[in-house]
Amino acid sequence: MSRSKNPSGGAEKRQRREEYGQRALLKSDLSANPTEQLQLWLDEASEVSASEPYAMVLATASRLGRPSSRTLLLKALDDEGLTFYTHYNSRKSRELTENPFASATFLWMELERQVIIEGAVSRLSKEKSSRYFASRPRGAQLGCWASEQDQVIEGREVLDARYAEVERRFGDGDIPLPPSWGGWRIVPSRFEFWQGRQHRLHDRFAYVRHGSEWEIQRLAP
Ligand SMILES: Cc1cc2nc3c(=O)[nH]c(=O)nc-3n(C[C@H](O)[C@H](O)[C@H](O)COP(=O)(O)O)c2cc1C
Repeated sequence: MSRSKNPSGGAEKRQRREEYGQRALLKSDLSANPTEQLQLWLDEASEVSASEPYAMVLATASRLGRPSSRTLLLKALDDEGLTFYTHYNSRKSRELTENPFASATFLWMELERQVIIEGAVSRLSKEKSSRYFASRPRGAQLGCWASEQDQVIEGREVLDARYAEVERRFGDGDIPLPPSWGGWRIVPSRFEFWQGRQHRLHDRFAYVRHGSEWEIQRLAP
């Protein structure tokens, strides 16, 4: 077997990163409402043109507690929770059905910020999913019908053929919500806001839910 180059060499060098510390996060800066605080950070990430500010990594776990994760786009944020859309036959949806809890992580390196949310999940109603689906570009709607997310396929041409088939099927008419596609909502029970600081002494604040109240705790980094 040929000797491989040290795979961690580059990573090690990159890990000797400059200090964090563009800005501080004070308890007095935080909104009493963590959803408002998250919206504020999403707005600030959008203002600095962070790449995909609404992208979050969603972690789920199987019935046996085996974790998996993937990136998704947050599509709605309000006092009811965080909404994203996906295929209901996908691995994530299967896991969320067996074990209805999730964690989502946002990372905005431009601002040296991270937010982690944890909570129980539930499916959105068909009406709500339909309303969102109707607002999507036609190409994305057809793409949803054409792809059975997570199925093993022979090649790219399978997707192209399915796309052409659904395009023919729906013609110029409205495209209905696919039966196995829709939204999920995470109802948060915990938020954590992280701001990078000097000497790795970062600012971390957790919001922990007590009924309708949120307690804010500072955590050691
Ligand atoms: C930036 C970005 C955004 C994505 N947004 C979504 C999304 O909103 N919904 C979705 O189903 N997949 C989205 N994906 C694809 C998922 O990461 C993933 O590949 C897919 O949902 C299958 O995941 P699963 O097999 O874990 O269920 C996105 C990927 C990236 C990189």
